[in-house]
Amino acid sequence: MENKEKSQAKTDRITLTADGTLRVPDNPVVPFIEGDGIGPDIWAAAKSVLDAAVGFAYKGRRKIIWSEILAGEKAYRETNEWLPEETLQAIKDHVAAIKGPLTTQVGEGIRSVNVALRQRLDLYACVRPIRYISGVPSPMRHPERVKMVVFRENTEDVYSGIEWEAQTREAEAVIAFLKDSIGVDVAKDSAIGIKPMSQRASRRLVARAIQYALDHDLPSVTLVHKGNIMKYTEGAFMKWGYEVAREMFGDHIVVESDLGPAHDGKAPPGKVVIKDRIADMMFQQVLLRPESYHVIATPNLNGDYLSDALAAQVGGLGMAPGANIGEDCAVFEATHGTAPKYAGTDRANPISLILSGVMMLEYLGWVEAASAIEKAVQKSISEGLVTHDLACRMPVARELRCSEFAQTVIERLST
Ligand code: NAI
Repeated sequence: MENKEKSQAKTDRITLTADGTLRVPDNPVVPFIEGDGIGPDIWAAAKSVLDAAVGFAYKGRRKIIWSEILAGEKAYRETNEWLPEETLQAIKDHVAAIKGPLTTQVGEGIRSVNVALRQRLDLYACVRPIRYISGVPSPMRHPERVKMVVFRENTEDVYSGIEWEAQTREAEAVIAFLKDSIGVDVAKDSAIGIKPMSQRASRRLVARAIQYALDHDLPSVTLVHKGNIMKYTEGAFMKWGYEVAREMFGDHIVVESDLGPAHDGKAPPGKVVIKDRIADMMFQQVLLRPESYHVIATPNLNGDYLSDALAAQVGGLGMAPGANIGEDCAVFEATHGTAPKYAGTDRANPISLILSGVMMLEYLGWVEAASAIEKAVQKSISEGLVTHDLACRMPVARELRCSEFAQTVIERLST
């Protein structure tokens, strides 16, 4: 019996072959983290939609076997740990997982469970597609022109967390080192933060973004950086980005500055244009000329700001899905956090996590179920059936609870 159970568990695991191809059984075990704050509400909604869509698309031939793993407040309550080792191991073992948002204590406690999860599993690419769904209220006059995918570096820059409080032994030691060894004067009462950005991490992130543009026939990849001021971190990100573009994708790319008279200022057909923009200017560009940008590759902090701003352009954080992807596994999650003011009210918008689930289904190759969900979400919105965050900005809408919205989407799967 025990052996039978073991072999059953094994066949139900998603596996990665040596060449990076995913093998997905018809009944894969997928670990999930419910999350804090609005997590339980939006996870329950997303799970019911994912299950219904898989059932609808594959008529019982396929089914996800969900397996709960703990992190955040629930983990702390039950195990006294914020991020148990078993959770990390389960994600490694099962290759794909999905999670709700987790609270980060400011200025105390564990630094961030989210950051720890991404770093420990080396989920180096935070991938956030931003796409407008017709009917969603937006501050833009032409939100349909916003169609981008942000690739945010997910392990370094401010995520490396090298920081010391002002007037501590560590901060004073660094200030003394800077003065004595390098001749740099820093005010004695300064807090100190260090942001490392490595060639390896920058290159692999940009390479992944370019590969995505090639796989999806997208015309450009923009490296967004603050290299005019931070020349040796952000500037180096740009330099390494261009380097990896030329070395790995030379036949498939053209650099924007090379689009001179020989090309009449236009990209040759089938080539991806690699360009760069300074981060502050990019915030203006995505408002004024969003149609000029397709894939964005950027260091951690820029990517954090930019993805929330872009989410606002297409309706807000409740609409913003995402994924953290590494070489060995991936964790799918919404862009937003725990939205404490909506916690336990059944009023949050679950679309962000439902669409993160769609990204997971696409990652597994279950595209029929993914597409069925997208169409049903679109249909619900076009009928004005939405949660509070959207309803309060729409001239005609019926406000639904989070759980009711999930049911509405499920009912529209078959139509
Ligand atoms: P937040 O993203 O949780 O919420 C900001 C605002 O966005 C909310 O007040 C709400 O108006 C709106 N919002 C977000 N998600 C929504 C949804 N699904 N439906 C409707 N409205 C939604 O950001 P905040 O308040 O700065 O962070 C709260 C906590 O979440 C913090 O502890 C933070 O560290 C954590 N956080 C966790 C993340 C994760 O787990 N990946 C990501 C970002 C923040």
